[in-house]
Amino acid sequence: MNPPGNTSSDSSQALPKPSSAEMAKIVFLPSGHRGEFPVGSSVLSAARNLGVDIDSVCGGRAVCGRCQVTLCEGEFSKHGIASKLTHLSAYGETEKKYSQIKGMNADRRLSCQAIILGDVVVDVPPDSQIHRQMVRKGADEIRDLQIDPVVQLFYLELPKPSMSDQTCDLSRVIERLTAEWGLPNLDADFRFLQTLSAALRAGETYAGDWKITVAVRLKKTLIAVWPGFKEDVYGLAVDVGTTTVAGHLCKLGSGEVVASGGMMNPQIRFGEDLMSRISYLQQNEGQAPVLTNSVRKALADLVAQVCQEALISSSDIVEMTLVGNPTMHHLVLGIDPTQLGMEPFPLVVDSGVSVLARDLDLQLNPGASVYLLPCIAGHVGGDTAGVILSQGPHTSDEMTLVIDVGTNAELVLGSKNRLIACSSPTGPAFEGAQISSGQRAAPGAIERVRIDPQTLVPRIKVIGCELWSDDPNFATEVASIGVTGICGSGIIEVVAELFLSGVIDETGRMLAKGHVIHNHPHLLPKGRNVEYVLYRTADRVIKVIPSDIRAIQLAKAACYSGAKLLMDEMGVDHVDKVLLAGAFGSYIDVKYAMILGMIPDCELSRVKSVGNAAGTGARIALLSAATRKEIQSVVRRVEKVETAIAPKFQDYFVSAMNLPNAVDPFPNLERVVQLPKTTVCV
Ligand code: FES
Repeated sequence: MNPPGNTSSDSSQALPKPSSAEMAKIVFLPSGHRGEFPVGSSVLSAARNLGVDIDSVCGGRAVCGRCQVTLCEGEFSKHGIASKLTHLSAYGETEKKYSQIKGMNADRRLSCQAIILGDVVVDVPPDSQIHRQMVRKGADEIRDLQIDPVVQLFYLELPKPSMSDQTCDLSRVIERLTAEWGLPNLDADFRFLQTLSAALRAGETYAGDWKITVAVRLKKTLIAVWPGFKEDVYGLAVDVGTTTVAGHLCKLGSGEVVASGGMMNPQIRFGEDLMSRISYLQQNEGQAPVLTNSVRKALADLVAQVCQEALISSSDIVEMTLVGNPTMHHLVLGIDPTQLGMEPFPLVVDSGVSVLARDLDLQLNPGASVYLLPCIAGHVGGDTAGVILSQGPHTSDEMTLVIDVGTNAELVLGSKNRLIACSSPTGPAFEGAQISSGQRAAPGAIERVRIDPQTLVPRIKVIGCELWSDDPNFATEVASIGVTGICGSGIIEVVAELFLSGVIDETGRMLAKGHVIHNHPHLLPKGRNVEYVLYRTADRVIKVIPSDIRAIQLAKAACYSGAKLLMDEMGVDHVDKVLLAGAFGSYIDVKYAMILGMIPDCELSRVKSVGNAAGTGARIALLSAATRKEIQSVVRRVEKVETAIAPKFQDYFVSAMNLPNAVDPFPNLERVVQLPKTTVCV
């Protein structure tokens, strides 16, 4: 990029008149870039010459405030520099004006206005770097990442046309961008053209002041324009799941999340899981557009939701990224996914797709685009690509198993040498569906369960209440939300606790030892079976019945069998690390997942919940253009295993129906949990 012109400096500053030979040293921290420049150069121009990463939207006009630096005073013997305040020009009128209007720390200078008068050491704070670093803080935080969005803003002050200069508006903009910012071969979206004239000539007289901010996508296409200086634009990262649609609204310049939203996927009325929806389409020819409209309506509602929360206009959203399983991916694009339900399950497209938001009926900025992360296979979609991008198994030396748990489990196994992926049909039991007292994770849902092995009396904890049920204040605290059912993490825990306490055996059978269950308040004989009462409310008994246990066994066996197939294919008998992703994975206690035998044996400290990793992947792709190339190339080399036709899947599945497994040992688990040898009721 060419250095932008240092077109505005304070005329009020009385600068010493250096001789042409007068040079000064400058060192930039933390990069360590250094050089010598003629006295009288601006700090920003020196930075540009040295390739120092300093942001600038206004091209040195003291408008954007992105170029701030701090002078480091003192002796820097390592560099042979005595850096002094007087070695930069005085704080001038332009900076004072900027500081009065926008506010600026006293120790900061606008590097476009600060003139080098002598040797200096200058610090470039993180918020002034173009490629500022995002640092991982927690499970849902994104990995260390250089912010480098595909859409960038440029502030321009343009000469007005005259009878002697009738250059068209677009050429005026393009010429300035090329001259000041080195952007070659620019083109423009036609919606940009429709709004350009009004932005340039904004004002009552339609004369305008010809100061505009333009948004350029991929350093190539002019997509949006605003009169004057535009401080921020936004991007929306969305995870379209089978059950829920969730998104984060981010400032594109900083990566900051300013609003989050989510809702149920309205397609649920066409079937709870993917295969039901594809079956619906197979049986109802020509109905794919109905499902497409349904999910696009949810996306439109999500946009409205986050804009309302952040108090911004949807026209300030200039880019969106989207992850979804192949069926959702195709339906969002308006592609009939029926073929994904039939062997050989071919995708219509497996590369990343960029499409104008307006072509998906989304009311973002008219020039905004939507980027859908690439799909991997017919049952392994862009959501798995997002998981890979955020968790980085392809960059690790360790054999990592990542499981994204939803209505299907998508599994990825590997390291930087090789990655293999598959999808396994767990069904919706982990999300609380197909469970007699099941419900989705929401306030009032039982999410934690402990059962006293002696008395078989349970303690529970519900979402929205911090207290356990044996706390004397529990009833009062929980009164407003109630105890409404069991969510996915709760059902995992109750089944595992029932196993640990001997109420069910390793085959999942509830024991009906007549003499001990008589009149037990939590064990209800039901024909030849037993039901376990977890909680009683005034009008409802929340219990676990044999079919619930069966549903969890089927789901966990599917998950485990997928992992075994991948381990076979990889030629390994253990994994170094297990990462559980997905909304459900965020709440699950990993110990209980292993007690059930849902995941392979692994050192418990190496099993982690990583939150909504697919959604995090969408955020990464939103904030960094480079990662789109990265994931595209990684996805190309992911090998696929098709569980539906794998001969060993059925054998693994049968063994995995047992708790934790009929044949596979769990030595790491047995080191921390005493598994029951035989099951006996009190
Ligand atoms: S570059 Fe915009 S204020 Fe300095």
